[in-house]
Amino acid sequence: VIEVLEPALAETRRQIAWAKKTLERAKLDTRRVLAALAKTGRTRLRRDQWLWEPLDRVPRCVRATPLVRVRPGKLAHRLADGPGTPGAVGEFFHHLTGSELATMELYARCSYEHPSMPEEFHQDYSRVTWDEARHADLALRMAKKYGLPFGSMTIDVSAYETNYQYLTCKPGTRQELLWRLLIQGTFQESLIIEGFPLQAKKMRFAKCEDAARVPDVLAEEEVAHVAIALKWARYLCDGDKERVMEVRERAHLYQHQQVMEFRRRYVAEDPDRAIAETEKLQAYGKAARKRFPFSIKVYVNREARRSAGFTEPEITQIVNWGYFFP
Ligand SMILES: [Fe+2]
Ligand SMILES: [Fe+2]
Repeated sequence: VIEVLEPALAETRRQIAWAKKTLERAKLDTRRVLAALAKTGRTRLRRDQWLWEPLDRVPRCVRATPLVRVRPGKLAHRLADGPGTPGAVGEFFHHLTGSELATMELYARCSYEHPSMPEEFHQDYSRVTWDEARHADLALRMAKKYGLPFGSMTIDVSAYETNYQYLTCKPGTRQELLWRLLIQGTFQESLIIEGFPLQAKKMRFAKCEDAARVPDVLAEEEVAHVAIALKWARYLCDGDKERVMEVRERAHLYQHQQVMEFRRRYVAEDPDRAIAETEKLQAYGKAARKRFPFSIKVYVNREARRSAGFTEPEITQIVNWGYFFP
């Protein structure tokens, strides 16, 4: 944990130093503003003076060249390195960098676009946003260390772009926010709880001990993120846990159908390419089962899910979707 937090601490110190330097320059202006405020007799700023209504909508995240997005519907991203090799570790972290950045942006927008949510919501999501930035930084360093600096492969922005808006929700509404929190916060991110310890195990097998610590730590940290998403999803459903489950069911079905639709379009465009990719993926899975001397099946971690705040029916709901074994 220390090895993970030390670079983050160094980065925070660097940012504080930058802020101090910048504020130094702005000091005169700040003094003038404070003096003007003192004259009006107001010592506190009204909330709308520092947290305003959103000025825009941003359905697509900006990615500058040379970063290239992965085509929606594509299955096998690269798989150039065999399972259990340092190259595969690099690919994992390259993909993760893209997801962490996209997740960071999504949560930052959740806070920015909903100024009327309680103070605690903004505190929670500012912290989560910072966590995701730190995760992205860790993944970025590891990808580079394992031979794949960010941008050397196509990048994934789906965490943001498939969750920013939904055809079923009016843009900018609390219903849209609820769907974002339920899908990305309580479902997608919760898969890390079970999935990442296995990734760490595979990395240890490949003798990449330094890399293995990252998914281990991330799996622990995501429990807190899931707990926060769950808390605010319940808040948005007036504490009605049944309703949380109903909306999650609908939102998951919607997203599943979207994924299938992207895939259908991708396959229709060039069936031969799609078949070749599916075969490559299946061969990779077979090679992985052969390579690792342990089971690579993922089982539900009920204890971790309980500690994140899931009820038993909620755990069963996600188990029933088939992303891991009961
Ligand atoms: Fe993360
Ligand atoms: Fe997270």
